Amino acid sequence: MSNQANSTQVNDSNPRHIAVIMDGNGRWALNKGNQRSDGHRAGSEAVRNLVSGALDLQIPYITIYAFSTENWSRPKMEVDFLFRLLAHFIEKELAELKEKGVRVRFIGRRDRISKSMVAQMEKMERETITNTKLSLTLAIDYGGRDEIHRAVDRMLEVRTVAEGSCSSADLHDFLDAPELPDPDLVIRTSGEMRLSNFLIYQAAYAELWFTEEYWPDFTQKTLARAIADYQKRHRRFGKIK
Ligand code: IPE
Ligand code: IPE
Ligand code: MG
Repeated sequence: MSNQANSTQVNDSNPRHIAVIMDGNGRWALNKGNQRSDGHRAGSEAVRNLVSGALDLQIPYITIYAFSTENWSRPKMEVDFLFRLLAHFIEKELAELKEKGVRVRFIGRRDRISKSMVAQMEKMERETITNTKLSLTLAIDYGGRDEIHRAVDRMLEVRTVAEGSCSSADLHDFLDAPELPDPDLVIRTSGEMRLSNFLIYQAAYAELWFTEEYWPDFTQKTLARAIADYQKRHRRFGKIK
């Protein structure tokens, strides 16, 4: 175990699934008098801290919000930079993630991003599919409402034709990754306190944790702090004790 994470130990009361809204890259860079792109670059480095921390603490599921359906409204230069960065991340990290036992999946739309990007994403999914230490899900061109709309469309398509009927209770099976457990803890950096369309169906009972720190400053210590606070929460799920 690394020094940074050792205040929080591997523990039964750890969250099983942590979802992370990495926010504040732009402000981090602008505060230093740099370009927003520098913040995104530094932010992609911080993802390594999150993954190492999760592996150290044996957190089995991590989901990261990397690009939202709303982020297309940013200047084209920034959007292009973000996708180049993602391509670079896949290229650079694939071998190490594979070696560390990390399974990578993507959620979100695949019809609006370049074919070469999708090919790279699918290669990463294929080559890590047998890994079991950590399941890492990256949300790209992801929006919770869009996911639900696509799920309803697919459900109606498949079920009405094949079986003649469908039930709204089946909706869950048509979400992008129905095999993942719901997130127990949602972390958001940069002081913003909202979900911004992230996992709005799945996070129904998640504990929410916010920090003022910008994403590029996220370390294993930040993760340990979030988990320690989570362990003090009392999750009632509607019951009275
Ligand atoms: C998060 O940082 C990264 C993405 C949303 C892609 P931001 O780019 O949102 O940074 P701020 O919030 O503008 O500082
Ligand atoms: C949420 O951050 C999206 C990602 C982290 C990918 P934003 O910076 O886009 O969210 P808003 O606009 O502040 O709600
Ligand atoms: Mg932001």
